[in-house]
Amino acid sequence: MKVITAASFRELKAAKKKITVLTAYDYPTAVLMDEADVDAVLVGDSLGMVVGGMENTLGVTMDMMLYHVQMVRRGLKRAMLIADMPYRSYQISVEEAVRNASRLVAEGGAQAVKLEGPCSYFGDVVHALNRASIPVMGHIGLTPQSVHQLGGYKVQGRGVEKARRLRTEALELQSMGCFAVVLECVPAEVAAEISLSLSIPTIGIGAGPGCDGQVLVCHDMLGWGKARFTKTYADVRTAARDAIATYVKEVKDGTFPAAEHCYE
Ligand code: KIV
Repeated sequence: MKVITAASFRELKAAKKKITVLTAYDYPTAVLMDEADVDAVLVGDSLGMVVGGMENTLGVTMDMMLYHVQMVRRGLKRAMLIADMPYRSYQISVEEAVRNASRLVAEGGAQAVKLEGPCSYFGDVVHALNRASIPVMGHIGLTPQSVHQLGGYKVQGRGVEKARRLRTEALELQSMGCFAVVLECVPAEVAAEISLSLSIPTIGIGAGPGCDGQVLVCHDMLGWGKARFTKTYADVRTAARDAIATYVKEVKDGTFPAAEHCYE
């Protein structure tokens, strides 16, 4: 079994093999992903919205991230574990960023961290994390932690100027030492062009097939997702809701528990 690392990402791109990434927030889901040979599992700060019911990702804390990263760590053998740096964990100072990222690695067992935004804002953080031997995944395009600044969850990089700026940001993240970069909600042609310009892989979400890999939020592909860029691979949401409704009915009408569920 070849364990996936940050170096594998470059190798997979060089070999023109697509990279698969999914989010997971708990142990049983991580086990399923490892069994299905997903290349990397991202404990995204999307967990605040997806499993925490929050309105956005801004309230996610380091303690929440660590708790979920530890759960996912226990479920993985082959897949690489990447942890999101939550809002306020890297924006305040470089020193705090290194302290927080190193907690995700040392206490959580993450093999890399992801942070949102361009080098013009966080280049010094990316540099310091690399110096601390922590591989960094960049994330540009739609960066949900900037939802208030962006004015909502909108497609980014439309138009020649904005597309050029996005490409420059991706190249700068590469020069600063990122091992991969997430492109979120970017027109497919722009993402394809950026992917061709970089030697590190691009991992797209809502960024079309020209990216070197894809990432989806696990719950989105299992029936909870509504966005255009996602696909329902199995409607687990409906199956789970129907199962719960059947349980409620059977307990009410006395069908459950039956004789086979009882001890003699
Ligand atoms: O938080 C998250 O799940 C993410 C992915 C959607 C890329 O950042």
